[in-house]
Amino acid sequence: MAELLRAVKGMNDILPPGVPRTEKLPDSALWQWFEATVRSVLGRYGYQNLLTPIVEPTALFVRGLGEVTDIVEKEMYSFVDSMNGDKLTLRPEATAGIVRAMIEHNALYNGPLRIWTMGPMFRHERPQAGRLRQFHQFGVESFGTSDPRADIEVITLLWHLLLDLALPNLTLEINSLGSSGDRAAYKPILLAFLRHQESRLCANCRRRMETNPLRVLDCKVPDCRAVTESAPRLTDHLSPEARTHFDQVLAGLVAIGVPYRLNPRLVRGLDYYCLTSFEITSTHLGAQNAVGAGGRYDGLVKTLGGPSVPAVGFAVGLERVSLMLPEASLSSLNECLYYVAAFGEEGIKLGFVLLDELRGVGISAQCDYRATTLKGHLRQADRSKCRYAILLGDDEAARGSVILRNLESKAQEELPLVGLTSLLKTRTFSP
Ligand code: HAM
Repeated sequence: MAELLRAVKGMNDILPPGVPRTEKLPDSALWQWFEATVRSVLGRYGYQNLLTPIVEPTALFVRGLGEVTDIVEKEMYSFVDSMNGDKLTLRPEATAGIVRAMIEHNALYNGPLRIWTMGPMFRHERPQAGRLRQFHQFGVESFGTSDPRADIEVITLLWHLLLDLALPNLTLEINSLGSSGDRAAYKPILLAFLRHQESRLCANCRRRMETNPLRVLDCKVPDCRAVTESAPRLTDHLSPEARTHFDQVLAGLVAIGVPYRLNPRLVRGLDYYCLTSFEITSTHLGAQNAVGAGGRYDGLVKTLGGPSVPAVGFAVGLERVSLMLPEASLSSLNECLYYVAAFGEEGIKLGFVLLDELRGVGISAQCDYRATTLKGHLRQADRSKCRYAILLGDDEAARGSVILRNLESKAQEELPLVGLTSLLKTRTFSP
């Protein structure tokens, strides 16, 4: 027997809804439903779609995300192109690639630009519930204005999207990371505090303290959390401009009715952020509790060689969304409307044409070609989760009719074969 090959650890197939899965992962129906919900919410906000390549130059992420970040230090899938020696990386997130594309195509010169994207990201993390090596993000980026209303808009968009998806127990956590000058002034204050507590910090934080002390605030190790509980707060050291910006964002959220919780230790794991940073967490998610996160990144376009263009955005993890959905909320997604149960010589011929006619007018229909008897078809029809079966054997063919069977109530009615597609079309699409 040939050796079985399996998917790479932490990278999953997105299966059709009927295929049993061992883990709670999104199936392709969930993906489509998510995309439809996203499109409907985005339509209301005037965002346009942009898709960038999955592979980018490694330097894009090193420069864009920061050398001393977990992602760049240890989580990137990087390789050398054997054809030309280029250093390439599977994108660990979408923002840097979107900024690269905006600069490359001179798209940032004509006023504000609202972008959304969706697709797979890759991070070499230790796989666990809610943490994968290939996962999927939906994200938006709003370029061209430093007005706090842009921050409020993307946060509100994220909040409404997650509410439309009916996700339970959401909390919006928010913080301000100030300007780069604010952070430079705050770092020695934080460092002095941390040095006093060094022996209580984990090894990782003792190392990070010297390279990127703000990240210590974000550590999930209980002892480190106990230490940083009383650490000096960046929000107490904001410049007047950053303070005003933050206050305006918070006031806007209050005015719109989006509830938030201030979290002075929210520093995010990517270096490009400034001012507003936020995460939406849920108690349904366990250790990996952020379903979506983002913030303002006014310096990134310039860092990557573009003009000075402010921006703010977020990304949502689709696998985390699926972990939060009750199983029942997805059952109607599996639905194909009609199962055509064609059997007997004449029935099979007519049934095959009927199947094509139904699909041709936009009605979903399917059939299992292996089934040859009525009993076999009914078994497959139940498995298919279709709402109705159309029974068409030689007897029905001789009478010029079909039996329409409601697969849930088992109620049946006989309908003429001539004009059947038009009749079912009217029933399906009339309000
Ligand atoms: P991030 O916080 O790294 O931000 O990721 C955003 C979301 O992606 C997380 O809240 C989570 O739902 C999901 N996610 C991240 N890593 C994993 C993983 N290993 N497995 C499953 N899901 C994961 C960013 O990526 C920024 N680019 C967001 C942004 C856009 N900021 C501004 N614009």
